[in-house]
Amino acid sequence: MALIKKEVVDQIILQADIVEVVGDFVSLKKKGQNMWACCPFHHEKSPSFSVAPNKGIYKCFGCGKAGNSVQFIMDVEGTSYVEALKYLAKKYSIDIEEDQSPAAVQAQNERDSLYILSDFAKKYYVNALHKNDEGQSIGAPYFKQRGLSAATIQKFELGYSLDSWDDFTKAALEKGFLLKYLEETGLTIVKQEEGKQYDRFRGRVMFPIQNVSGRTIGFGARTLKTNDKKSPKYVNSPESPIYHKSDVLYGMYQAKQSIRQEDNCYLVEGYLDVLSLHQGSIENVVASSGTSLTENQIKLIGRYTKNITVLYDGDPAGIKASLRGIDLILEGGLNVNVVLFPDGDDPDSYIRKVGDTAFKDYLEKNSRDFISFKAELFAQEAKDNPVKKAEAIREMVVSIAKIPDAIKRSVFLQQCSLQFGIDEQVLISEYNKIHLTEQKNSRSQPSQGSSYGNSPASYAPGSFEEMAAEAEAAAAAEAAMYEDEGAPEADQSNVLRVREREVIRFILNYADKEVEEGLTASQFMLGELEDIEFKTPIYKKLFDLCRLKLEQGFMPTASEFMQHEEKEIRTEVVDLLSEKYELSKGWATHEIIVPHESDLVSYGSEREVLRLKWRNVQLMIKEQMDTLPRLKEAQELDKTLRTIKALKEFEKQIADLLGIVVSR
Ligand code: UTP
Ligand code: MN
Repeated sequence: MALIKKEVVDQIILQADIVEVVGDFVSLKKKGQNMWACCPFHHEKSPSFSVAPNKGIYKCFGCGKAGNSVQFIMDVEGTSYVEALKYLAKKYSIDIEEDQSPAAVQAQNERDSLYILSDFAKKYYVNALHKNDEGQSIGAPYFKQRGLSAATIQKFELGYSLDSWDDFTKAALEKGFLLKYLEETGLTIVKQEEGKQYDRFRGRVMFPIQNVSGRTIGFGARTLKTNDKKSPKYVNSPESPIYHKSDVLYGMYQAKQSIRQEDNCYLVEGYLDVLSLHQGSIENVVASSGTSLTENQIKLIGRYTKNITVLYDGDPAGIKASLRGIDLILEGGLNVNVVLFPDGDDPDSYIRKVGDTAFKDYLEKNSRDFISFKAELFAQEAKDNPVKKAEAIREMVVSIAKIPDAIKRSVFLQQCSLQFGIDEQVLISEYNKIHLTEQKNSRSQPSQGSSYGNSPASYAPGSFEEMAAEAEAAAAAEAAMYEDEGAPEADQSNVLRVREREVIRFILNYADKEVEEGLTASQFMLGELEDIEFKTPIYKKLFDLCRLKLEQGFMPTASEFMQHEEKEIRTEVVDLLSEKYELSKGWATHEIIVPHESDLVSYGSEREVLRLKWRNVQLMIKEQMDTLPRLKEAQELDKTLRTIKALKEFEKQIADLLGIVVSR
C-alpha cells in the first residue's frame, strides 16, 4: 500500500471541512456554537451528535464516538485511515500522487479505464431505454408491468440493451474505447477464431451493479422472453479487475445510509426484490444476486450494522440450501433474523400483492431469530425419526457453535433444548465436541503474531481441554456482561476493580501451582502484568507485596499475608481466600457446569491476565478519546487518533484471545 505524503495528508485535513464532510451523511442543524444531528452511529430520537466547526471535530454524547473528518469517514464508511484520506482527497480534488511506479500507474489507469467504460455502458443502456424506439416499446413497458416507477428506474439507473448483435460494441469503439477493455469488462464477447465480436447483453433490461461508492462495475441483465427456455433468465457481467462478485452486494450504495440508521439490513435474493422494497420505502435492503453469501459480503454489511434479516421465499429446498450461508453470518458475529414468505411468493411479488404498509407489518410480525427458525425446521423433519433427530441436533449445535458471543450461545442452547425436548447437557457436550475440533483446527494454523507474549493455547490436552472450553465460555459470558459501553463512569472503574481483585485472588490462591514446567501461576502473572499500573489502592498494595515476596524467594500464597501487620491487608486476604469461585449470574442460570477452578490454574491465570489487560487498554482508549475535544492542532489530533487506532487494534487482539466480540 502506497503511503500518502505527509504534506498531502496535512492538506487534506486542512481542507476537509467537518460540516461539509458530516453533512453528506446527516442533516445538521445549528444550535449555539455547534451543529447538531441524530447520531449516525447509534439509534436515537433526539440529537446528541454534535459538530464543532471551529475545532473541526464531531462528538456524540450518546455513544461517545468522536474525532476529525478523517475519523468520521473511517467510522461512517468503515474504511481504513488511508481509504478515508483518499475519500476526502477525492471530495476536495486533492491530488494524492500515490505510488508513481510505472506498474502501479498502469494498473490504476487500467482500472480507471474500466470504470469509465462501465459508466459509459450504463449511460448507453439508460439512453436506449428512454430515447430509443425499441427501448420505449419493449423495455419500458416491461418495467411498467413489473410495477416499477419512473423514480425507481431513475434512482437505480435501469436501462435496456437493444436486441442487436453489436450495437453497443460499435458505439463504444467509435467513442474510442479499446476492444481490450470491452472484453475485460465482459461487455463485448470476442471470438478470436471466428474474428467476431458481439454484445454480451442483447434485448434485455439492464441492472447496473455499483460498488459502495456508487461507481458502476458490472451489470445484471434480465431477458424479456419469459418462455424462452434456451436463453438464461439473467445474464451477468463476468468477474473483472473492477468487479469481484464475492465482494459486492446489489443495492448497497443506495442502501447504506438507511442500513446504518435502521441498524438492520434486509437481505434478499434478487434485483427486483431490492427495487420493489425500495419503492415501498424500505431502503435498507441488498441482494446477494442469487449466489450464496460470502464472508466479504458479510463484512461489508458489518461495516454498517450488526443485524441482518434474511428474507426468504418459502420454498423449503431453497431454504435448506442457504442455511450454510447463514452460519457464515453467525460466525461473523452478526445477529441473524429470518422472515419467511408464503410459498410461491418472493419479497417482490409479496409487497406488490399486499402493499407497503401490510408488507412492513408482515416483516415485523414474522421476523424471528435464525436459530429458533432453524431448530423448528429440523424439529419438524426429525419428529419420530431418531436418526434424523440426531442429525438435526448436530446441525443446530453447529450453528450455535458459530456464535462468538457466549451469552447468546447459552441462550440458544437452552432454547434449542426446549424445542427438541432434549436435555440441555446433551447439547452442551455436543457443543463441546464441535467447539474443540474447531479450536484445534484454528490452532494448527500459523498463529497471527499477537503482541501478547505467551501463547494463549497452553492448556493441557484431553478432557481437561473440554473443561477449559467450558470455563472459557463462562469467562467470556462474564466479561461480556461487563461489556456495557454506556456504563456510567462509576461502573467502569468498578469493572477495573473487579478485574484487579480477581488477579490478586488468583495469585494468592494458586501462587505456587505450576502453569507449566518450572513456572508458577504467581511468577507467570506477576511477570505478565509488570507494566500494568493497578488502580485500586488495596490491590496495588497487595500486588507490590506479592512481587516483593517473590523477589525474596517466597511464594506469595495467602498464608504469607494472613499475619500481616496491616489490618486492611489481613481482612482483604481473608476475604479473598474464603470466597468460592463465583459464576456470573447469566451463566449460572443456564446451568452450564464449570469445572472447579483449581483444575484450571494455567488456563485461569492466563485469562485473568488477559482480562485485566483488556480493561486497561479500554481505559487508555477512553483517556485518549477524552482529550480529543481539547486538541486544537490538526497534527496533535492526528497523532491521538492514530494512538487510539493502535490501542483499539490491541484491544481487539486481546478480545479475540478471550473470544469476545467487540462491536463498535
Ligand atoms: P430469481 O429467479 O428469483 O429472479 O433469481 P428475480 O430477481 O426474482 O426476477 P423475477 O422476479 O423472476 O423477474 C434471483 C436472483 O438470482 C440471480 C439474479 O441476481 C436474480 O435477481 N439469477 C437468477 C441469475 O443470476 N441468473 C439466473 O439465471 C437466475
Ligand atoms: Mn421475482
